[in-house]
Amino acid sequence: MRAERACPHRGFMLDVSRHFFPPEAVKRLLRAAAACGANRMHWHLTDDQGWRADLARYPRLARTGGFRGGPALGAAPGTEGNDGFYTREEIRDIVAFAGDLGIEIIPEVDLPGHASALLAAYPEHGCRRRIWRDGRAEDLADAYRYRVLTTGGIFPNLVCAGRDGTLRFLEGILDEVMELFPFSMIHLGGDEAIKQRWRRCPDCRKRMDELGLADEEALQRWLILRLGEYLLAHGREPVVYNDALNGGPLPKSFIVQHWLGNDRETAEFLQSGGRVICADLERCYFDYPHSSVDAFAVYSAPPVPEYAKGNEAGILGWEGMLWTERVTGLDRAAYLLFPRLPALLAPLAGGPCPESWECFAERLRDLRSDPAMAGLNWAPERLWRASEEDAAADRAEDALLHLSPDVLRAESSEKGLLRLEQLEALLSDIGMPEPFALSVMDAAEAEIPFLRGLPAGDRLPGADTMADQLAVAVAQREEGAWKDLPEEVWLDTMRAYSRFVGEYFDMYGTWGFDRGFWTVRQMNALLFRLGALEYELRRREDGAPFIDLHIPSDIRLEPAALRDSLERARRFLARWRKDWADAPMECESWLLSPALKDLLPAGAAINRFRRAFRVTSIDPEAKDFLQWVFGLPQEEWERARPGELPGDTTLRRNMRLALTRGEKIGSARGVLEADFG
Ligand code: ACM
Ligand code: ZN
Repeated sequence: MRAERACPHRGFMLDVSRHFFPPEAVKRLLRAAAACGANRMHWHLTDDQGWRADLARYPRLARTGGFRGGPALGAAPGTEGNDGFYTREEIRDIVAFAGDLGIEIIPEVDLPGHASALLAAYPEHGCRRRIWRDGRAEDLADAYRYRVLTTGGIFPNLVCAGRDGTLRFLEGILDEVMELFPFSMIHLGGDEAIKQRWRRCPDCRKRMDELGLADEEALQRWLILRLGEYLLAHGREPVVYNDALNGGPLPKSFIVQHWLGNDRETAEFLQSGGRVICADLERCYFDYPHSSVDAFAVYSAPPVPEYAKGNEAGILGWEGMLWTERVTGLDRAAYLLFPRLPALLAPLAGGPCPESWECFAERLRDLRSDPAMAGLNWAPERLWRASEEDAAADRAEDALLHLSPDVLRAESSEKGLLRLEQLEALLSDIGMPEPFALSVMDAAEAEIPFLRGLPAGDRLPGADTMADQLAVAVAQREEGAWKDLPEEVWLDTMRAYSRFVGEYFDMYGTWGFDRGFWTVRQMNALLFRLGALEYELRRREDGAPFIDLHIPSDIRLEPAALRDSLERARRFLARWRKDWADAPMECESWLLSPALKDLLPAGAAINRFRRAFRVTSIDPEAKDFLQWVFGLPQEEWERARPGELPGDTTLRRNMRLALTRGEKIGSARGVLEADFG
């Protein structure tokens, strides 16, 4: 990127939501940034903690959304800009001032998440909330209480993607933003939008159904596409954070700002001809202390990130990011930006390069005494290329800003919300029936302080157990026993939770889950679904490994499917659980009962299945066939009268006859010894 020619995008982002920077402060930063070679300011005007642009059509956005009172993260009370907004006059003035400096302003309206301030002003553009009560779904209109937030982090407050009135409202906002900002690019955000509100909103779900969208990420893509196309139709260029690629690719008329994750998606976007602004977290996030990335590291980082290799032409340039949760005013802002911003931008501005760090540091000293920098508080030279010792001191100083109780609360709330998001996404990935899923979500939400007090529906039996277990399962997937295991095995195994809920409903006609004792093994990655069968990894008392085969209730006993499952299991175990790769496989089930031999034709699927096992013990008293064959819940097994059992299939008829004759069906244990015929 260190080219003779100037790079088209040499930007810096200023977040004025988390802390408000008065127009004079913005102008001082613009002047200084221009001296560093910047030609774009990305102006982050809206977020959970403040809406800063006064729009004529929607006056409450700034007049309600621009005020929050209390201090934000880590700030000394009374010293910080929490409240305020820019009038249209001030915005026009800043736009003209920037224009004179050769800087274009990219205004950002962050959507659909980071919308708490917007929703505090116009709560009618938030989602409705579905709960399950008295055996039916209820959709509540005023379930969420929005306010301008006073802590940082990720929050579930999203604008509703299901209502047309909200789309018109958002387009109205964009109309006015386009009026105020004459430049080509408008930023739509798209980052960190956790979908908890969408997931239980009837309007968002209806939109997804009507459009045939697979999930909430696809809904976000649809919304962003729609708003982006609105901008394109007005001759503007939409910019979005790379999170917006989660729901699928975007057209190349969009511009993606890459900051974290999704490297493959960004690479594909570039490959398709799309343009990218690089703002990589590890190089460009100047809200992090100098000890995590100092000016030397910024200057000497590889000019082309991995995801852009081979598609360098699509890179528009770089942007230094100043998020301001912990940046309370101009002094701290300047301290963090300088000299890292010139270290990022100067090499992009064209001219003689590359040059050594020593030569460049000399240029930085000149820049520091430029009139454009007058009165701005640069970081001391010892932090430009920090020694271990200076870095440690800087880290310690930065850590102090993290230690306020507000920060710690916010950080733990964010972790909880992200876990909840994964848990909810899992419920939908495994097809959990909606009534039970809602109850599990209620149970999981109740554990998160930020969400306490939301209206909840009936707590269905077993929902709390499932919420606890899925929370563990999600943690195990991320960093425990499930980490690295193949996605399809994970999801197939986790579908047991939905299957058990379905079986409960079939049996009792109500929603519930009573297999929590059972699914402990799934959540701990000790039992895997691989095709037709489930495999539980166990050890005998002497430690010898063996495998307990489980026969899921949705199995079809087709030899080809059973053989396929066994092959998959052998491959899976050889790769992931070597101790069990050649372990014997055993099964205990009514399906292995020798009594079945005479109740079914020789070629029946059950008999073919049975023949693959050598029976090692028989339990004639076992009665669970009553559940699987006749659908009787366990409480009714003792009272069952053979004469009253249904007889609508061969197996049921023959079994009923055998039972009326006083014969026993029972179950058996066997070792798998032959191929499934
Ligand atoms: C971002 O840092 N949320 C783009
Ligand atoms: Zn909605």
